[in-house]
Amino acid sequence: PVTPATWPYPRLIAHRGAGRLAPENTLASIRLGTRHGYRMVEFDVKLSQDGVPVLLHDDTLDRTSNAQGLASDRSYAQLAEIDFGGWHGATYAGEPIPTLYAVAASTLTNGVHSNIEIKPTTGDEEATGRTVAELARKLWRHAPLPPLLSSFSEASLEAAMQVAPELPRALLIEGPVPDDWQARLERLQCTGVNPDNRHVDANLVRAMRSAGYTVSVWTVNDTERMRALFDWGCNAVFTDEVASIAPTSFDLLP
Ligand code: G3P
Ligand code: MG
Repeated sequence: PVTPATWPYPRLIAHRGAGRLAPENTLASIRLGTRHGYRMVEFDVKLSQDGVPVLLHDDTLDRTSNAQGLASDRSYAQLAEIDFGGWHGATYAGEPIPTLYAVAASTLTNGVHSNIEIKPTTGDEEATGRTVAELARKLWRHAPLPPLLSSFSEASLEAAMQVAPELPRALLIEGPVPDDWQARLERLQCTGVNPDNRHVDANLVRAMRSAGYTVSVWTVNDTERMRALFDWGCNAVFTDEVASIAPTSFDLLP
């Protein structure tokens, strides 16, 4: 079970793959994280116009590809023509947008655990939660550990709960943690909560942990801060620093 005391996943999670060293949310970035020894990866998933789950952070294509406009206006076949690597550097020119299917194949082959962040295009919250969770339960059915599902969208988490209640869910929180966090987690039957590093302190982590929720903090890029968070009882952190922070740095902590 995924509880604070029995956290079965690695403590360090590669954010968006190795999403700064390589183009975020591509197979190249996931492979690079693996090459640095990371055994767990976080990536963002949304739907193409024809309902195919693909990896992309923003609603639009502008920042991380050579195209413009909403990803949800393109079919998967159209998205597959776009270059999602060249913006980062010539080494990665031509890198395609990965499907969730391709990422499952790659990570499961390499023994890498996954945190699937459900990142719906605005207005697509329910369909994205439902489609991603349905596919995830099929693709990971023989995996040693289930993928963790997370989202800032409560509507997406609710839809995921309805189709795949057995997959562990965490509510992502950006900015200050609302006073009613516990009621929100209960309603969505979450196993965990993923608060914003800029709004976390020792008391909050202890309260979340004693309420029975795993705590995974984003995004943490220095080891002193990681040490403090783990001392307070955090289970995991998401990091961009996959080249400079060894993935097993904190494995000997209790
Ligand atoms: O899941 C942790 C983190 O990825 C949440 O923020 O914007 O990087 O998706 P963002
Ligand atoms: Mg994310």
